[in-house]
Amino acid sequence: MPAAVLVGAQWGDEGKGKATDLLGGDVDYVVRYQGGNNAGHTVVIGDQKYALHLLPTGILSPDVVPVIGNGVVIDPGVLLSEIDGLAARGISAERLLISSNAHLIMPHHKALDKVTERYLGKARIGTTGRGIGPAYGDKIARMGVRVQDLLDPGILAKKIEVALGEKNQVLTKVYNRRGIEPAAVLEEYLAYAERLKPHIADTSLVLSKALDEGKFVLLEGGQGTLLDIDHGTYPFVTSSSPTSGGACAGAGIPPNRLTKIIGILKAYTTRVGSGPFPTELTDEVGEWLRQTGGEYGVTTGRNRRCGWFDAVIARYATRINGITDYFLTKLDVLSGLERIPVCVAYDVDGVRHDEIPMTQTDFHHAVPVYEELPGWQEDITSAKSFDDLPPNAQAYVRALEEMSGAPISAIGVGPGRDQTVVVRSLV
Ligand code: GDP
Ligand code: IMO
Ligand code: MG
Repeated sequence: MPAAVLVGAQWGDEGKGKATDLLGGDVDYVVRYQGGNNAGHTVVIGDQKYALHLLPTGILSPDVVPVIGNGVVIDPGVLLSEIDGLAARGISAERLLISSNAHLIMPHHKALDKVTERYLGKARIGTTGRGIGPAYGDKIARMGVRVQDLLDPGILAKKIEVALGEKNQVLTKVYNRRGIEPAAVLEEYLAYAERLKPHIADTSLVLSKALDEGKFVLLEGGQGTLLDIDHGTYPFVTSSSPTSGGACAGAGIPPNRLTKIIGILKAYTTRVGSGPFPTELTDEVGEWLRQTGGEYGVTTGRNRRCGWFDAVIARYATRINGITDYFLTKLDVLSGLERIPVCVAYDVDGVRHDEIPMTQTDFHHAVPVYEELPGWQEDITSAKSFDDLPPNAQAYVRALEEMSGAPISAIGVGPGRDQTVVVRSLV
């Protein structure tokens, strides 16, 4: 019956892991539908902190079936070490299902991600270097190796040989790197195959049957709306579709199954890597946000760029995704400020824009038009209900809700599982 999608509304790292985990008790399946181990989703349960990259956050809820959908690109070595890391902490991945149609990240994808970034120099995207772009490139070019190929050593050998026949030419002749030995890759991937076999499934069929039986399926996005290959700040984006439209394609369930589209929205804005970011603060205020919010990358450890809340972006995310509810995270980080600027529009070469400008050039020229909202001094990390929040924090939430154009149904007041104010049920 119901399927809900959970999407990042900004440039990623909005707190999707925490939000998914919170819903873990109410859902039966949690499905990652795109991206790969470029994602870093943090969940804090009691005094335990988990950083998940490829495994769906549902792995941490014992009654949930975690699923890696067909739209994901999988680095099998990383997946297995993530599984082993959790096993060492007493968390079993036995229930994990992996789509037979998901694509594999191969050693040449990682090599190419690194050399192409170096080649771009100042124009680099600032990727996570995990081979994501080259893996999706091969998928679209119909040169990809899929999870199901692990089940047929003959096919796997052939596919690796064909791929490396071309990629080794590029690595050696264009980038002056060493080629990759097909036999070594085959041996490595056959070893992965042995361990992954029991998890491989027709996950689209499994999810369809589950929905028919009235089970609840939650689709967990990686990255965020502004990193979407079509709707993000191209070319400074990732190579997949994190937006809600991509969720159906990446999970193999039709759009008319979706009942809720939950956007995860940070109370301010962050971004990792290159690309335009109108409200970015490069001064000591930005540094204060970084330190207070702990804005350091979960995957690469890079400093996250920080800035004020951008309502133009939020409105855009509401429209592109069809957001039905927002989960506003990290409100607690803003405690202690006298006044909080919020970007309500852009000034582009003297012209006011209430929507994201149509061209990349104009977006690069966008200067935020700020409105200032009164801050609050109280610590809100123990708030349990909306009424527990100081009046100015309540007003800040209401203002963001008004500007974003969708109801804020939950508010994060700390990283912990229980540090959430639920205004209305999300499922
Ligand atoms: P994701 O990639 O969207 O899952 O987000 P990340 O895990 O990369 O980054 C979000 C960070 O914020 C993590 O360290 C979370 O533990 C933390 N976090 C999430 N929600 C809240 C919140 O409401 N308040 C605070 N202080 N931290 C939060
Ligand atoms: P989660 O799921 C923030 C960014 C990279 C780079 C661009 C392209 O934790 O929100 P890629 O390696 O995907 O080709 O890099 O996208 N990026 C993320 N930024 N959070 C993420 O994931 C990201 N995944 C990729 O920094 O700018
Ligand atoms: Mg993250």
